[in-house]
Amino acid sequence: MALVSAKEMLEKARDGKYAVGQFNINNLEWTKSILQTAEELKAPVILGVSEGAGKYMTGFKVVADMVKAMIEEMKITVPVALHLDHGTYEGCYKCIKAGFSSIMFDGSHFPIEENVEKTKELVNVTKQLGLSLEAEVGAIGGEEDGVIGKGECADPEECKKIADLGVTMLAAGIGNIHGKYPANWEGLSFETLAAVKAKVGNMPLVLHGGTGIPTEMIKKAISLGVAKINVNTECQLAFQEATRKYIEAGKDLQGKGFDPRKLLADGAAAIKATVKEKMEIFGCIGKA
Ligand code: 13P
Repeated sequence: MALVSAKEMLEKARDGKYAVGQFNINNLEWTKSILQTAEELKAPVILGVSEGAGKYMTGFKVVADMVKAMIEEMKITVPVALHLDHGTYEGCYKCIKAGFSSIMFDGSHFPIEENVEKTKELVNVTKQLGLSLEAEVGAIGGEEDGVIGKGECADPEECKKIADLGVTMLAAGIGNIHGKYPANWEGLSFETLAAVKAKVGNMPLVLHGGTGIPTEMIKKAISLGVAKINVNTECQLAFQEATRKYIEAGKDLQGKGFDPRKLLADGAAAIKATVKEKMEIFGCIGKA
């Protein structure tokens, strides 16, 4: 199956009251583990690529070509969208050219007028090409690719301005942050989420910073219109922990344990387990 836009899978999720997971990829092991899990569980999936991860993998074209070839070689039948995560204006055009099926333009750090103007232009471009577009209002806190945001709740009026442009999905800051949540985190602002939902109507909403959000909060967010949840750090931590155990147990020193296919196998299995666990909570299993 070819890459698809995220539009249809998110509209189905919104109507069916579940969420599709966006899992960020870093390399071949990540991509393969996430695709395998989605196929095994018959779940639609979104592969997220930050600009830093794209650069690490030597460019967006390499990423798009790898993902498309993997879908073909692995005979993946579930819908898969390849999505730019927190794209800059220039990054959006690079990913469109490289063959991504979904784009996020993160104009949340611009004044709202500039965010509106640039998002509007990208709505036109992506619509013509049949790609989905995510926009953001209100910064998501935490650190991603070296950019540190403090996390602010979105202004529902500003969300309406962006939603009315015709984006496919909207990420609104509701006290969520990237990375681990600090012990003194106050939790998601459901008040903000409900106020945003009241302004944007049927627009599928996106929850960033999916790592470490308690299950009940995730379920409540879904009931209030969240149809896409992004997870990145949790897969990285699962991979790191499993790889550390492998090495600490001295397995890399036994036989051919140094073979990268063996050395990375436990980490890859840990990514699969994390993706499965998240998909169970999101309710997207069997929805492909
Ligand atoms: P986490 O790293 O906190 O899971 O956040 C992922 C994310 O929101 C990517 O945009």
